Amino acid sequence: MTQSADTHAQVSIPSKEDGSMPSHVAIICDGNGRWAKQRGLPRLEGHRRGMEALRKTIQAASELGIPYLSIFAFSSENWRRPVQEVSDLMGLLRLFVRRDLNDLHKRNVRVKIIGERVGLESEILSDLIKTEELTKDNTGLTLLIAFNYGGRQELVAATQAIAQDVVAGKLKVEDINLADIEQRLYTAGIPDPDIVIRTSGEQRISNFLTWQTVYSEFLFLPVFWPDFDGEALNVAIEEYGRRERRFGGL
Ligand code: IPE
Ligand code: IPE
Ligand code: MG
Repeated sequence: MTQSADTHAQVSIPSKEDGSMPSHVAIICDGNGRWAKQRGLPRLEGHRRGMEALRKTIQAASELGIPYLSIFAFSSENWRRPVQEVSDLMGLLRLFVRRDLNDLHKRNVRVKIIGERVGLESEILSDLIKTEELTKDNTGLTLLIAFNYGGRQELVAATQAIAQDVVAGKLKVEDINLADIEQRLYTAGIPDPDIVIRTSGEQRISNFLTWQTVYSEFLFLPVFWPDFDGEALNVAIEEYGRRERRFGGL
């Protein structure tokens, strides 16, 4: 197979000179239900406490000067859960964007929502759009909230967008390259995650950032998400600093 020079330069490499500080931390916030079950509490209580952990983590990431933090809040597959749980999760997300919006804005956080918007309830959609609008010019932490997000679904959408451009004569099939795909993802222009943290002990990706994580470092932590905080984030970043990344080179 022949490849153009352009194709070789596309895997993003962390921006910090010594590579010890990640530019982009992505988190699969898992284990709320088990946290609650362990304590004989309803799952909703686990999700509420998970929201507290989220607040602490955002604050810590922002104070550490991490440029990008991605949070997996609701996957495309989470609709398979019981109606009550889905409705509880939607309610909590709305509460989060409403209650925390001003605080995030004050902290200079730029919020970006990634995921499928079609099919979302109009109130949630308008809350999300309002959040993005208010914070779009902030220059601190960029917080990506993956909501109704699936990595494979994102690739299907990018493929459709490319096919449309081919049909419209704007793009030639033989010219399609890595950048053409990257530019059509929700994360266009954002560096790939340097580190992906998953809490709860599960060791899988569950359809998170499929394209973007090919060279990410993975940390699977044996704590449930409600027990995660700034200290845990620090420990994870220290571990990241000890990893050797090669990106296929030597
Ligand atoms: C993560 O916790 C929250 C979401 C997926 C929205 P879970 O609800 O998956 O908790 P467990 O995995 O059942 O413990
Ligand atoms: C992944 O967790 C999705 C989020 C954290 C939002 P799940 O709990 O849905 O993943 P599986 O089902 O255990 O793989
Ligand atoms: Mg789970």
